[in-house]
Amino acid sequence: MSSNPLRRVPLIERYRPFLPVSEKTPVISLAEGSTPLLKANRLSERLGLNVFLKLEGLNPTGSFKDRGMTIAVSKGAEEGATAVICASTGNTSAAAAAYASRAGMRCIVIIPKGKIAAGKLAQALTHGARVLAVDGNFDQALDLVRRIVENYPVQLVNSINPYRIEGQKTGAFEIVDALGEAPDYLCIPVGNAGNITAYWKGFREYHDAGKCSSLPRMTGFQAAGAAPLVEGHPVEEPETIATAIRIGNPARGDEALAAASDSGGLIEAVTDEEIIGAYRLVASVEGTFCEPASAASIAGLVKKAGEGHFKQDSTVVCVLTGHGLKDPDTAISTGPEVTSAPPDFDQVIKLLKL
Ligand code: F0G
Repeated sequence: MSSNPLRRVPLIERYRPFLPVSEKTPVISLAEGSTPLLKANRLSERLGLNVFLKLEGLNPTGSFKDRGMTIAVSKGAEEGATAVICASTGNTSAAAAAYASRAGMRCIVIIPKGKIAAGKLAQALTHGARVLAVDGNFDQALDLVRRIVENYPVQLVNSINPYRIEGQKTGAFEIVDALGEAPDYLCIPVGNAGNITAYWKGFREYHDAGKCSSLPRMTGFQAAGAAPLVEGHPVEEPETIATAIRIGNPARGDEALAAASDSGGLIEAVTDEEIIGAYRLVASVEGTFCEPASAASIAGLVKKAGEGHFKQDSTVVCVLTGHGLKDPDTAISTGPEVTSAPPDFDQVIKLLKL
């Protein structure tokens, strides 16, 4: 392992003893992981907590999916796969396409038509994936993918692939490595429920390895229009502005519920209004631009803090799962108006009310 601080070491190298890889595993990496844990000073002050933001949007393709994809594609390569496939609300497809191109594999992605943020689609297309848009939602796309892999030799890289979970659990390792201890709470958005499952596994493994003496309460948030784990049954037609988590029947729902109850945490819903409010809040007071789904963790933090849920001065980590640039359309359509101005000094000054 290099000690050069300018070199981002592949996640597989950094956490090799905790991962299902051997010397025979080719390391397919884009230098993922090692993302910042940023203290949110103004949110902390406002809420009377120690709030940290795990900036997963700073992964190579702009989301946490890279952590899982480096393992899924490396193991696929080891096992002789030549093509990968996923259903996706966008980020998984971007990561699958990038890692497949890196591995010299074909990539097929099935997405819900018209419900993918522009940046994510741009990524999948530019990395050379074959993109199919189905007239349906994510859950239907995932059903199709499950059937395809049962019948054709294509490797599935959705988070029902256990290697994805193995990679994504390293987010928990990094939080403990950065804080020197586990946080009191982890706030995390929940869609297909792979990531909350992965973080909970990561914290437990690190605890068992003696790296931390406690475990966080897993505090998950779904969008109110797509909250099957809160409602207790699948949602036929999930709807939310946070398209990344527009999922009505999460594949790892049972594990997510177990993570919440075993850790003394919870899974609750936040409205689109609360999500967009949190999205703009974290961007305007912390300089941190995340995508709407990621802001569900902040929306949940603010809501639960308002209810007095967190013990004063607790350490809370919010996982900001994807970069704001993924979804420029939502940023612009929910943002303030742009003011037009003539190229004239006096009029510009007047408009600026300086
Ligand atoms: N945040 C973002 C930005 C996501 O893209 C996703 C899931 C989640 C949160 C929820 O994570 O599914 O593990 O509970 N995106 C998937 C995709 C479904 O296809 O990109 P989860």
